[in-house]
Amino acid sequence: MCGVVGYVGKNLSRSYVMQGLARLEYRGYDSAGFACLDEKTEKLGCIRAEGQLVNLVKALEGQPLDGSVGIGHTRWSTHGVVAERNAHPHVDCLKKISVVHNGIIENYQLLKEQLSKENHLFRSETDTEVIAHLIEKAISQQGLLQAMLTIVKQLQGAYAFGCIGEPFKDTVVAVRKGSPLCIGIGDKEMFVASDVLAFAGLTDQVIYLPDETIALVHAGFLELYDFEGKQLFLVPQRVAVSWANDGKNGYEHFMLKEIFEQKTGIQATVSWLRELENGPWEHLGMTETQAQELESLTLVGCGTSWHAARIGQFFFESIAKVRTSVVLASEFRYMPFLPTGHSLYMALSQSGETADTLECLRMVKGHGCPTAVLTNVASSSMVRESDGYLLTKAGQEISVASTKAFSTQLAGLYWLAHELAYQKGLIDRQAVEQAYDQLLVAAEILEDSITRYREIITQRYAPYYAQFDKAIFLGRSISYPFCLEAALKLKEISYIFAQSYPAGELKHGPIALIAPDTPLFLFSTLEPVIYQKILSNAQEIKARHGHLVVFAFEGQDELCQLADLAFTVKPVAPLLAPLAMTGLMQFFVYAIADALGRPIDKPRHLAKSVTVE
Ligand code: M6R
Repeated sequence: MCGVVGYVGKNLSRSYVMQGLARLEYRGYDSAGFACLDEKTEKLGCIRAEGQLVNLVKALEGQPLDGSVGIGHTRWSTHGVVAERNAHPHVDCLKKISVVHNGIIENYQLLKEQLSKENHLFRSETDTEVIAHLIEKAISQQGLLQAMLTIVKQLQGAYAFGCIGEPFKDTVVAVRKGSPLCIGIGDKEMFVASDVLAFAGLTDQVIYLPDETIALVHAGFLELYDFEGKQLFLVPQRVAVSWANDGKNGYEHFMLKEIFEQKTGIQATVSWLRELENGPWEHLGMTETQAQELESLTLVGCGTSWHAARIGQFFFESIAKVRTSVVLASEFRYMPFLPTGHSLYMALSQSGETADTLECLRMVKGHGCPTAVLTNVASSSMVRESDGYLLTKAGQEISVASTKAFSTQLAGLYWLAHELAYQKGLIDRQAVEQAYDQLLVAAEILEDSITRYREIITQRYAPYYAQFDKAIFLGRSISYPFCLEAALKLKEISYIFAQSYPAGELKHGPIALIAPDTPLFLFSTLEPVIYQKILSNAQEIKARHGHLVVFAFEGQDELCQLADLAFTVKPVAPLLAPLAMTGLMQFFVYAIADALGRPIDKPRHLAKSVTVE
């Protein structure tokens, strides 16, 4: 994973590269680096720093290094600890060639051994460094294109890399296999990046490099080749992306701001879906008849998107009566694939770039099955590569912990389940419109419940629960995937260990964990039968002196009376129970992390977009 940026053109590269890196920091923030061919000395110069980009900015202060050909990198470590020596760009033995890379070179150990035997000097523990040495070796024997064709035959894995060097002064080399890479075409200047966001506002003319492409990028022109050396001629497309980061807008963290943006995000998402000119099916790459005949749906995602999909399963099965399976992308790809007719495979992804999910889409497509994506990023790889897409309109999500992407995914799935039920003749148009109103009510409640508890959580409850170093999260039926999401949020931003279980499973073993130092968080539902079961689970916990916190609905007094602490939320349409509770759950967890002084928007070891498998 990582962000790759490059510039070649009429201007000096450093400010463009640094701006691009700031916008791509969501791809990793362990360390960062900048390299260019210095305009004064004509030598390659490279400066790197451990930690967030701000450290590189400091390291560059007072350094005159700049030139019209430059590359930069923001890292999420795969190989080698977080340290300046492992930060990109990496250089060859003579420090004349430098490389920035996103992806994994799977056979790097073997290549490193071979190159070391030939006396190449390695300075890092990364897989990337082998690329610099391979180029050094190949370029001493052949021209630039031939050298690149030679090395792509040696590299195994998925990669997108950029490279500059003294032997090919006016060029940024950009190579893509698997991992995304695009080129922005300006006026006598070119931008290379992992994501168009890096150069949004500078040009809207974009070439997304096809898989297995080598680009020799010069200020005024571009040469593209496939891995066999055949020249490619591609027409740039207009991509209207803007950089809309208006800062934290007075909030202490992006996460908090994004928690409070959920109501408008849900409204915007449902309005967008509702107003699609020809309805959702054409957008999803399907006909209405195919929707009517749909017999099974497979939802694929990772992390929070997977949790949203698991809640969505209840929507599709209850409302549209369509058998729905939900699979973790990292597992799905390596499971036996048994395609069935009348099915749709839908990826869920905030970023639209998550490598595990993207690879699943590619695999399913490779079997000739219909694919679609629900994503927050219209310019993402998944939108380009699937047969159809729908968007969530959450607006840019910056905090690593996903909040508004989750709630807008739930809204989108709920609405789509109703459209599908309508298409199948199970409900009338009025019921679809009712779903729209139900979503707006749930969005209001989501926000109101935070406002209602904000102060007491901040002052009292968060500092108290921040003292525990482990917690158990419980839910049943639709609140089980929701408790998985709550536990993920807590782990991710507070570093408190959190384990989730279906509440009914407690008595089959985990009940042994009940102890005074382990609070249990139990999420209720609005289904009467399930509520009764949850009540019994609460009784079992109290019978063992467990410390119980419940997230319940108004009127669920029996449950609240059993709890050591109870939060209540206004009732909504039963399937929207998790959506209504989302804001309160996220805020509670946020406040605990804040009480612990954690770096909430950029938690340790993480990245916003996980672009390696
Ligand atoms: O962009 P995606 O929705 O595909 O990302 C999937 C996960 O990496 C993501 O949801 C992750 O779990 C979040 N950091 C959770 O808050």
